[in-house]
Amino acid sequence: MPPDTIATNPETVARTSDHPREQTDSLFEHVAWLYAFCREKVFRDDTERIISSLWPNQEPETGTSIIELGCGPGFYSRKLATRFPQISATGVDRSLGQISLARRRARAEAIENCAFEQVNALHIPCEDARFDVLIASRLFTVLPDAERAIFEMYRVLKPGGQCFIAEPRYSTWASIPLLAMWLLACLLHSGNGYREPHKATVYTRDDFAALFATQPWETVKTWRDGRYQYALCQKA
Ligand SMILES: C[S@@+](CC[C@H](N)C(=O)[O-])C[C@H]1O[C@@H](n2cnc3c(N)ncnc32)[C@H](O)[C@@H]1O
Repeated sequence: MPPDTIATNPETVARTSDHPREQTDSLFEHVAWLYAFCREKVFRDDTERIISSLWPNQEPETGTSIIELGCGPGFYSRKLATRFPQISATGVDRSLGQISLARRRARAEAIENCAFEQVNALHIPCEDARFDVLIASRLFTVLPDAERAIFEMYRVLKPGGQCFIAEPRYSTWASIPLLAMWLLACLLHSGNGYREPHKATVYTRDDFAALFATQPWETVKTWRDGRYQYALCQKA
């Protein structure tokens, strides 16, 4: 089932590009392909963990709608849409470069139940309670306002909806791709600096748990596994 577009309100769509240099000052635009390479060939693939956490006993129901925030090249949206043709997946990212890569890959893989849109995760241009499931991976490493993102995550989920979050635990490891992107972008382009930090933001166990406590989830489970930490939350 093909997803319909989420950006329905022109006022909120306008807020997607709330900065005049939106398209020019992001590493994820300038060296989009380098991030896609890291995502697809270097980082941990949590697809099986996502599936067993969200649907431990059975496959997702027909019509299940998924949103992936800060989807980058759409790695998880594409994987889940391919595995479960009965769902619809929408990957959103602020970077047009990442969205273009995600769309190109989805087309090449002939995935029809998956779409990608340029959206700011801090102002998602859709009504409340729109999605059954939300996924975000490595988003908080570069997001200045994680609390606001959690607010939006809670808002766009339906009652009973679930969210799965995966974040790195170690700043040094998580900063390597950012540093590589900074170096390459500075070599290839003569930009006046980029929005992203040199150092990735990572959360301690307590701070990670505290982030989710900012919304009235019915259940929250956080856990760690090697270099990553995870959260699985359900809305009442
Ligand atoms: C570190 S990457 C993670 C990409 C992918 N989820 C993964 O697992 O590798 C962070 C992504 O978040 C996007 N991003 C950063 N700020 C954002 C925002 N406010 N709204 C939406 N996407 C954002 C970036 O463009 C980038 O593609």
